[in-house]
Amino acid sequence: MKPFSAGWLAAREPHDQRARNPAVLDALAAAVAGLSSIRIVDLGCGTGATLRAIAPRLRVPQHWHCVDNDLGLLERAARLEPPSGVAISTKALDLVRDLEAALDGPIDLVTASALFDLVSDAWLERFVVETAARRLPAYIALTHDDDIAIEPSDPLDDAAIAAVCRHQRRDKGFGPALGPGAAKAAVARFERAGYRVIAGRSDWRLEPADGEMQAAVLDVWAGAASEEGGLPLAEGVAWLTRRRDLVAAGRSAMHLGHVDFLALPDRNRQH
Ligand SMILES: C[S@@+](CC[C@H](N)C(=O)[O-])C[C@H]1O[C@@H](n2cnc3c(N)ncnc32)[C@H](O)[C@@H]1O
Repeated sequence: MKPFSAGWLAAREPHDQRARNPAVLDALAAAVAGLSSIRIVDLGCGTGATLRAIAPRLRVPQHWHCVDNDLGLLERAARLEPPSGVAISTKALDLVRDLEAALDGPIDLVTASALFDLVSDAWLERFVVETAARRLPAYIALTHDDDIAIEPSDPLDDAAIAAVCRHQRRDKGFGPALGPGAAKAAVARFERAGYRVIAGRSDWRLEPADGEMQAAVLDVWAGAASEEGGLPLAEGVAWLTRRRDLVAAGRSAMHLGHVDFLALPDRNRQH
């Protein structure tokens, strides 16, 4: 079953928008500034959040090719009314089977948001090899890591969070997921491939006023921790109840770590 509903993506988009690292975005805008136009492939596009976030910052005519294996999400991306100077096409592709096809053709930039924590080390290696073979730059945003904190603390937070991190390493369709280790692994692989990488944090800070999103995250975590056997059932239920009560009382805050990076190929490098 696919866990990415349009409702969930819509709920997280404003948090992602706020969190995107401005220095990485500036580096991306600077990297494309000299081009007369740019062709972008957005992998795992969902409903088009990456386009909405960065198209207005790239001050050149753009063609976005949005790729996903969820037809319902793709249909929403296809219906986007793009800003002036931006054209969109969509394609249903399974990035496990058809990664190379997604990267073929006239492309100047690869983008992905909230995707890389799902992928396996083997897929990541394949992605870096294929991207480097085509000398493509890559903007990879909002990959979560294990920099997680909740306030005020509860004695069972650590056990719950550890179980969530283990759950994030389960197979999400790409083989065993890199989960919280994905961003570090991706940056290291691109650097080994001769890329210059500009990385920065894009952490979510959920304040007491973000109660709805906090409650949604806690529900997902409680489900994951229970599937992982991280907390005995009664303790898990009690933990979730205590945490939700703090959210309802406006006394809870959460910090969820993410990383953004831009990987730029060395244009002079020979294979
Ligand atoms: C967490 S969502 C992020 C969506 C969007 N980039 C955003 O930031 O809102 C991950 C996306 O990857 C897509 N996805 C997951 N596995 C995929 C695969 N094997 N092939 C293509 N897309 C995939 C999902 O359908 C979903 O749209």
